Amino acid sequence: MIIRQICILGGTGFVGRTLANRLTQKGIKLRILTRNREYHKENLILLPTVDLIETDIHEPEALRAQFAGCDAVINLVGILNERGRDGSGFHRAHVELAEKVIDACLKNRVKRLQHMSALNADPDKGTSYYLKSKGEAENLVHQAGQEGLYVSSYRPSVIFGPDDSFFNRFARLLKMTPLVFPLACPKSRFAPVYVGNVADAFVKTLTDPKSYGQRYNLCGPEIYTLQELVSYTSECLGIKRFIIPLGDLVSRIQAALFDFVPGKPFSTDNYLSAQLDSVCETNDLARLGITPMTIRAIVPQYLANKIQRARYYQFRSHLSGR
Ligand SMILES: NC(=O)c1ccc[n+]([C@@H]2O[C@H](COP(=O)([O-])OP(=O)(O)OC[C@H]3O[C@@H](n4cnc5c(N)ncnc54)[C@H](OP(=O)(O)O)[C@@H]3O)[C@@H](O)[C@H]2O)c1
Repeated sequence: MIIRQICILGGTGFVGRTLANRLTQKGIKLRILTRNREYHKENLILLPTVDLIETDIHEPEALRAQFAGCDAVINLVGILNERGRDGSGFHRAHVELAEKVIDACLKNRVKRLQHMSALNADPDKGTSYYLKSKGEAENLVHQAGQEGLYVSSYRPSVIFGPDDSFFNRFARLLKMTPLVFPLACPKSRFAPVYVGNVADAFVKTLTDPKSYGQRYNLCGPEIYTLQELVSYTSECLGIKRFIIPLGDLVSRIQAALFDFVPGKPFSTDNYLSAQLDSVCETNDLARLGITPMTIRAIVPQYLANKIQRARYYQFRSHLSGR
């Protein structure tokens, strides 16, 4: 299969920007759909083969128009929290969108669909709306394989890299919290996977017929508890915090309270998804010939960098008297 033009949904995000970089290096033309071109243009328009297009991807007609002439579609859209609490936001962003993407692919005779899911995504397991809706969407796209679409899905554990929302978020929270840091779900286990490795998995499998119909579990080489990862973050930042592991009941109460905090730094749904260890039984990066990077090889560079930049800005504002 020859791929010249790809339409990407969610291509402006953390994973999307890395993947777009990799794909443009191969000379592939990218049509990246966004809700807000102005907001994202700085990050993407410098890439030579990228067209950044503002449109409503939840509008079937708009989607059909954008997929015209594309050889492949990549759907990276995902949300970790919804506005309300009844699962309808997750359903719309994951399941309903996947249905519209499949429909628009079939109507435009797009042959190839790469779909981003998540480790533990399963409509029948656990109680988190995030994981259940991700699982439902994943199954839907694989069913579309029977209608002639070549589908692959990707199921990463938590993803790290510059601009991630995991280490960077804990770094921000640790800096804001003096001395003592109460941590919910401290024993949850993760196998953090490097964003470059995730992007490589998409690129390597893009035109490989062996990948059609496959679901890839993507993990880093090491397993950590959440408490170990947060301690490591404070170590990288060079700040001392006493991490207080919260028990299950208090974690649940903290999540329920944060449900009502704007931006939901933590939520009941996050608590529920953290009840399942985010680790791979078999890591499919090995199957793809990709060597997973460790957090120690990558994370200190960008966390330490941020500290240096913060010090520089502090110094500058001190000099200018602001
Ligand atoms: N990051 C992780 O640790 C991790 C782990 C496992 C799985 N995943 C999955 O990987 C995918 C990419 O993750 P990411 O970290 O790159 O996410 P991200 O940075 O939040 O980017 C997701 C993109 O999706 C679009 N989007 C978000 N909500 C939307 C909505 N309601 N309607 C339409 N578009 C929406 C946004 O694009 P615009 O603002 O331009 O419209 C956004 O740039 C997601 O599906 C996520 O569930 C991520």
